[in-house]
Amino acid sequence: IYHTPELTPEDKVPDCAIAVDVLRATTTIATVLAAGAEAVQVFSDLDQLIQVSEAWSAEKRLRAGERGGAKVAGFDMGNSPLDCTPERVQGRRLFISTTNGTRALQRVQHAAAVTAAAFINRAAVVKYIMTQQPEVLWIVGSGWEGSFSLEDTACAGAIAHSIWQQTELPLAELAGNDEVMGAIALYTQWQNNLLELFHHASHGKRLLRLDCYEDLKYCAQTDIVDVLPLQKEPGVLKV
Ligand code: MLT
Repeated sequence: IYHTPELTPEDKVPDCAIAVDVLRATTTIATVLAAGAEAVQVFSDLDQLIQVSEAWSAEKRLRAGERGGAKVAGFDMGNSPLDCTPERVQGRRLFISTTNGTRALQRVQHAAAVTAAAFINRAAVVKYIMTQQPEVLWIVGSGWEGSFSLEDTACAGAIAHSIWQQTELPLAELAGNDEVMGAIALYTQWQNNLLELFHHASHGKRLLRLDCYEDLKYCAQTDIVDVLPLQKEPGVLKV
């Protein structure tokens, strides 16, 4: 487990990387794919997003831009998973740039396999890991501008906890860095009260200031969407 893209090693590539941004980019990615979007394409740069998406007709694309938790002016939507209704997204490609989540995905895009996880699709991601059995697996939290985040660490812990339960190994034999134990401890302490944990998280507080309580509630649900976003080409995720 690495808490932020900045803490992720640059000189190695894992067999599989899971990017996590519970609030809210990877929750939105899982939701939009479950609602029938053709694909999600991630960008760290807003201008590049506009340029690349120009090649798509307005009916076939949706532009999502978020900075500091708020929607970027001129974009079709911000980063709320609640905006991803089937009527709105079906058959379209979501071009998305967010403050941290899309940077985490870009940071791991050279891994042999790349997926995106949040609490809502945790079981689907764990099922994939148990089938693939990657020798080296990274779980990369998005954090906030280089800092640790509670919600991404708890989700990384939820994934590690579920893998551990299914492998039935003693916890001490579950290979990994110290962050793995810390994340599992955080998750097990808060697993029945994730919404309250989000209220303690700095980005949770930011979203509450922006009137996004319903988003927090949605993001705090576990295993409700059976969707595995998989990278098909660098930066492009599909089911
Ligand atoms: C991010 O990428 O930092 C988040 O997804 C921000 C947000 O909540 O929109």
